[in-house]
Amino acid sequence: MPTNDSITSHSAPASWRDFPISQQPDYPDQARLQDVEKQLRALPPLVFAQEIRDLKQSLANVAAGKGFVLQAGDCAESFAEFSANKIRDTFKVLLQMAVVLTFGGRRPVTKIARMAGQFAKPRSADFEEIDGRSLPSFRGDIINAADADPEARIPDPERMLRAYNQSASTLNLLRAFAQGGFADLHQVHRWNLSFVEASPSKDRYQKLSERIEDALGFMEVCGITSQTSPLIRETQLFTSHEALLLNYEEALSRIDSFTGRCYNCSAHFVWIGERTRQLDHAHVEFFKQIENPIGVKIGPATKSDDLLRLIDALNPTNEPGRLTLITRMGADRLPEVLPGLIRAVNKQGLDVVWSSDPMHGNTVKSVSGFKTRQFDDILRELNRFFEVHQAEGSYPGGIHLEMTGEHVTECTGGAYEISDSDLATRYLTSCDPRLNADQVLELAYLIADALKQAKPENATR
Ligand code: PEP
Ligand code: CO
Repeated sequence: MPTNDSITSHSAPASWRDFPISQQPDYPDQARLQDVEKQLRALPPLVFAQEIRDLKQSLANVAAGKGFVLQAGDCAESFAEFSANKIRDTFKVLLQMAVVLTFGGRRPVTKIARMAGQFAKPRSADFEEIDGRSLPSFRGDIINAADADPEARIPDPERMLRAYNQSASTLNLLRAFAQGGFADLHQVHRWNLSFVEASPSKDRYQKLSERIEDALGFMEVCGITSQTSPLIRETQLFTSHEALLLNYEEALSRIDSFTGRCYNCSAHFVWIGERTRQLDHAHVEFFKQIENPIGVKIGPATKSDDLLRLIDALNPTNEPGRLTLITRMGADRLPEVLPGLIRAVNKQGLDVVWSSDPMHGNTVKSVSGFKTRQFDDILRELNRFFEVHQAEGSYPGGIHLEMTGEHVTECTGGAYEISDSDLATRYLTSCDPRLNADQVLELAYLIADALKQAKPENATR
């Protein structure tokens, strides 16, 4: 804990402003923008530097093969879809997955939510066509509104304050859930039993659930219960988002009075997207200035040399836990591309966490016109990720998913066989298609075995 009165002070890492930048809004009113930045700078940090250091330590353990990361949540949070139930349902599924993965992999699972700040979205084009009309693209609720109206699409800096406030309330509830009894292991296991009981694939999952039941029963007779152990009753959840809108990220960065270092206090973990990770651009520059554990999305066109330069820029001291490479190749491309990247990283003895995002390389357009993803492609990319790491003697350290606790129909397939024609029933996303609660739990059960095979010794160099 800091020993003096001030927890943090403000000294913004502003050097990114001198670099080329993509995917940013063009705010028409600069004076208003500056006023909002000033207000944000005066607001309390959302997370505390010591928590950020704790996460980095957990991720260092993952890099050493002694843990696994589960990062999951919404594609984009939204102002309209903000409710306690929604937060609860997503957190609930995250906990359910974490229990299955912890048991399956016999390793502690670090839980990182894509929540409490996941508002800004990179877009492939500056304009989009809606009902025959060309409109500036929707860039996430922190920037403009999704309504099909040119006025609504004008970037409004006040939205950053609303995003901050929504993040603060979300985080408040998540902290209460994590510490207040909601995350009790016995309760989470009971939810899993109900899921398995109702699933059309019940037979496949039942054995694992029974083994978890036995383990909990054994612990109970040994006296390890919710009453005796906070480890059973409570959990730790970290937050994350793509740090895309640098005006916001800069304004929430603070100097930690304990270490004198700069932390981005908008979330514990932030990542750079596939479209903004150019070496000599603003996002990489900004990320160099902050101490947080960070991620970078790595797509199928990545060349080994470029990856090595990026790693050197973002983690020059090869600090374990600092850098997570989130590969998002697409199931088909992964076997061609990932082995070479792993070899290059291993050859240099670089300490990174490898995580798989099986969502963003597998997006397709359905016959009915929806942007969707097929459950089987997602599963195939994950299985290939585990296989390739196994073959290359490296450690697959985590997964990164877009999901929701709601019963949406946005990705096709899974045990409930969501078909193309079902997509229209509950297609609610404001951006990318998410796995629903059933699909995401299925995925956890289906990869639990692959996780067990992952060799921790491959991580130690
Ligand atoms: C995302 O994670 O929502 C995203 C846009 O990913 P990527 O940068 O990998 O396309
Ligand atoms: Co997305």
